[in-house]
Amino acid sequence: MINRRDFLHQGTLGAAALFAAPKIGWAGASTSRTADSRIEVLFDEPLGTISPNIYGHFTENLGGVFYDGIWVGEKSPVPNIGGLRKSLIEHMRRIKAPVIRYPGGCFADSYDWRDGIGPVEKRPRRTNFWANAESNLAPLNHRYDPNTVGTNEFVHFCELIGAEPYLAANVRSLPASAFQQWVEYCNSPAGTTTLADARVAAGYPEPFHVKYWGVGNESWGCGGEFTAQEYAVEFRRYSTWLPNYGDKLNLVASGPNTDDWSWTREFLEEVLRKGPGELRRIYGLALHYYSWNLSRGKTQDWVAGKGDALRFDTVDWYELLREGERMENLVTGHWQVMSEFDQEHLVKLVVDEWGPWYRPGSEATPGDLLEQMPTLRDAVFSGMTLDIFNRNPEKVAMANCAQLINCLNSLYLAHEDRFVITPVGHVFELYATHQGGQSLRTIFSAPDLHYERDGSPASFWGLRGSASVRGKTLTLTVVNPSTSEARMTEIDLRGAAVKEANMSFLSNADIHAHNTFDQPNVVVPVTKSLSFSQGPLVVEFPPASVSALNIQLE
Ligand code: AHR
Repeated sequence: MINRRDFLHQGTLGAAALFAAPKIGWAGASTSRTADSRIEVLFDEPLGTISPNIYGHFTENLGGVFYDGIWVGEKSPVPNIGGLRKSLIEHMRRIKAPVIRYPGGCFADSYDWRDGIGPVEKRPRRTNFWANAESNLAPLNHRYDPNTVGTNEFVHFCELIGAEPYLAANVRSLPASAFQQWVEYCNSPAGTTTLADARVAAGYPEPFHVKYWGVGNESWGCGGEFTAQEYAVEFRRYSTWLPNYGDKLNLVASGPNTDDWSWTREFLEEVLRKGPGELRRIYGLALHYYSWNLSRGKTQDWVAGKGDALRFDTVDWYELLREGERMENLVTGHWQVMSEFDQEHLVKLVVDEWGPWYRPGSEATPGDLLEQMPTLRDAVFSGMTLDIFNRNPEKVAMANCAQLINCLNSLYLAHEDRFVITPVGHVFELYATHQGGQSLRTIFSAPDLHYERDGSPASFWGLRGSASVRGKTLTLTVVNPSTSEARMTEIDLRGAAVKEANMSFLSNADIHAHNTFDQPNVVVPVTKSLSFSQGPLVVEFPPASVSALNIQLE
């Protein structure tokens, strides 16, 4: 039996077993249908401000994420800005990407940031953490890191997008002084330190003002195989003193894997052994949750339990969503444990890795490690997950979808001069206006969906989503998980009136629909204006859809 910890330790990958893929049809919209569902937005029940950082991203130096994905090189014929893929930057600006995590992931705890600064031609080549898992099809720079992309290039990438960098420090294999010096390199003003001089010499006179720092990654596994108590001691040590140059440093502690409540409890217990003031060191506790087990309860084996990204039936569709909706319990469950130690809620949750994880076999570029093909199912999953974060604004300060490009739940796929926005990328576009909005309690009432799961009756909720208001604009995002039924829904805004409204949605008659380099527009948002003059706003949500309503209020 292999679990994720073992997998990351050994760098092994499983083989694929494939399913037959049925087609699902949708009869189409029937405007004469009466409403079968209802959404009530409660304007007088605000839940808190949605942190823009919930819409964050994760980029690890793994497979094709950097080399080929983000980085094409300054001399490349592929349009680039200082070596960084231009089309990617442009789309990330459009979705208002707020924060990007780097350089890992497991890679972070084997990375020495000092290898990635200074003249590029003098930077060392190092064996990447993921080298053992790479296939022979992968280019050499995926296995042996040329360090062409380092801190300067990554921060430049963030600056071009308008995103904050979130750097993960190495706790497993570097001393605390290296962490301090990384902060010094990034943030000390020109002319103050030798490391500031090095940054200036590389062409970056202004400090980077990096505000978000991870103290290790998955310290329960690839980040050092610590116990929660051991890691808490390391966390105290690495965070005891850091230079700040006037920038508040927000430190993110390595948190639990999925429902490991004891990690959360024991870490906080041990940190607090030195006294209640210790909590002030921690900005966030990182929760990692991947939805990978589609075995319908048959196994917990990390390889055997995986499903296929492209070949799945309707039960697999719901299975992924069932796994995905666990996120709500994980957020509220870990928050509950945190509340035992932190009544003031100084520490927030940072879900800095989330998304589905399938078995290998659907790579757009053969040989790209952990790359998978996102379909409409992943769009629905991602919309559902972002809605969960929106509904818990007081708990979740940041979330980072794993991973941005050429990897797991990617928003983009790229290879050489080819680039495509996946259905997941379109979801981030639809949801962007939630950033910084006031989350409102919203009641979704819809018939449950019923289906057969391995001979037993099973059900799943019929409609869910989230709402937020900013000034006179309401964003209402809605997921219809049914593979076959549209939902005719009456929308009741309690405490506000509609001036005008439109809706953009992603859907397709085929639940496996996805965008490829050759067919990039199979799953793209469709926008229509909504008419409501003769009564309440009634909207039809297509089957297997993610929708965003943009409502201007009176
Ligand atoms: O995202 C891939 C890997 O998954 C990351 O490196 C690690 O943190 C997690 O287990």
